[in-house]
This record gives sequence, structure tokens and C-alpha cells, in this order.
Amino acid sequence: MGDASRQAHWENVYTTKSENEVSWFQQSPAPSLELIVQAGAVSSTAIIDIGGGASRLVDHLLEQGFEDLTVLDLSGAALKAAKARLGARADRVHWLVEDATIWEPVKRYDLWHDRAAFHFLTDTNDRAAYIDRLGRGLKIGGHAIIATFAPDGPEKCSGLPVARYDGATLARTLGAAFKLLHTQRHEHATPWDSRQIFQFSIFRRES
Ligand SMILES: C[S@@+](CC[C@H](N)C(=O)[O-])C[C@H]1O[C@@H](n2cnc3c(N)ncnc32)[C@H](O)[C@@H]1O
Repeated sequence: MGDASRQAHWENVYTTKSENEVSWFQQSPAPSLELIVQAGAVSSTAIIDIGGGASRLVDHLLEQGFEDLTVLDLSGAALKAAKARLGARADRVHWLVEDATIWEPVKRYDLWHDRAAFHFLTDTNDRAAYIDRLGRGLKIGGHAIIATFAPDGPEKCSGLPVARYDGATLARTLGAAFKLLHTQRHEHATPWDSRQIFQFSIFRRES
């Protein structure tokens, strides 16, 4: 999928569906919040949510006192929805309308979070471009929490094909600079109560 059609796809999703009409909606992003604590995040930790969309993760992180939050997504409509929900609190967050495979990071974050964005990269060059940004956007010693569909998860999301991983295959894909510290499976219940198996993994950038 080209960059323009990818963006058009996601703009269409976020302009035609409300948050609980998309399969990935979570009222509370519990696995992410637990792993962010497990990765040792404190209030000053610089956190970026890649492909954060209209997720409520940022609301919870603000409530928990995190002070350096960035949400990146290629859909401006998704970020607009998140900002509208947050009201004045949105001013405490950095918002980036960017494609994670093209974006040029201008700072290095302590913690990179991605739930269900990386798995849309089914093209080798797109994955390489994302991993390049991960290397340039994450501090050495920083942590990446990446959640994707597991090998027994769905083959598609939002009508698009996905690449499915377990912790080991994701570690091999990211390369030796990223050490797998922890991996877990998670059963996500969609708003219409079907089940999707995810994997959530924590990596530390070693070099
Ligand atoms: C399945 S949704 C997950 C949204 C959010 N992470 C959550 O857990 O609710 C995938 C998100 O990734 C975004 N996305 C897909 N490809 C992307 C890319 N190449 N760069 C940035 N965002 C992307 C989409 O716009 C969408 O918001």
C-alpha cells in the first residue's frame, strides 16, 4: 500500500466510525499501562505512542502524571478525535501527524509504544524504514513496547493484511540492537465481543 492510500484508508476510518465501532477500541489499555510501569517509566520519561490513533492510552498516562507525552499517527482525524476528548488537557501532549515510515525524529524518546501499528507493515522496505526510525527515535537504554497480532491472531485488521508475530519473531525482525526483555500474550475483546490474540513485548535498545 502506498503512503497516500495508507493515509486515505485511515482518514476514512476515523472520519466514518466512532471509537467503539473499531475492533481495536479499549476502554482501558490495561496491558500497555502495566508494561509501561514494568519498563520502569517515571513521570519524566519521554513517551511516544506510535500509531496512537484515538487511543485512550494518553488519557490514562496524563492521569497518572506522565509529563512528556507524544502521540504520532498518520491520521489527523484520529488525533483530532483524541484532542477533542481530552479538551484543555490536550495542550499537555505533543501531537504529530506523520507516517512512522517517513517521519524524521527530532528527539530521542525513553519509551516507544506501539499497539497495532507496526503489524500493518507487510512490506520489507516499510519495516526497515520503521526500524530505522525506532533506532533514531529511541535512546540507547530506552524501551520499546510493541504489540501486534500473535501468530494465531487475525490475518487482517481494518480490512488490511497484517504480519503476525510472537516475541521471538518480532525480536528477529527488529534486529540485534533490540533485546527482548519480556513477552506476553493478550486476548483482546472487541466492542462486539469477538476475541483477538495479541502479543505484547518489551525490548531494550542496546546499541
Ligand atoms: C489498529 S489502529 C490502533 C490505534 C491505537 N494504537 C490503539 O491501540 O487504539 C492502527 C493505528 O495505526 C495508525 N497507522 C497505521 N499505519 C501507520 C503508519 N505507517 N504511521 C503512523 N501511523 C500509522 C493508524 O492510523 C491507526 O490509528
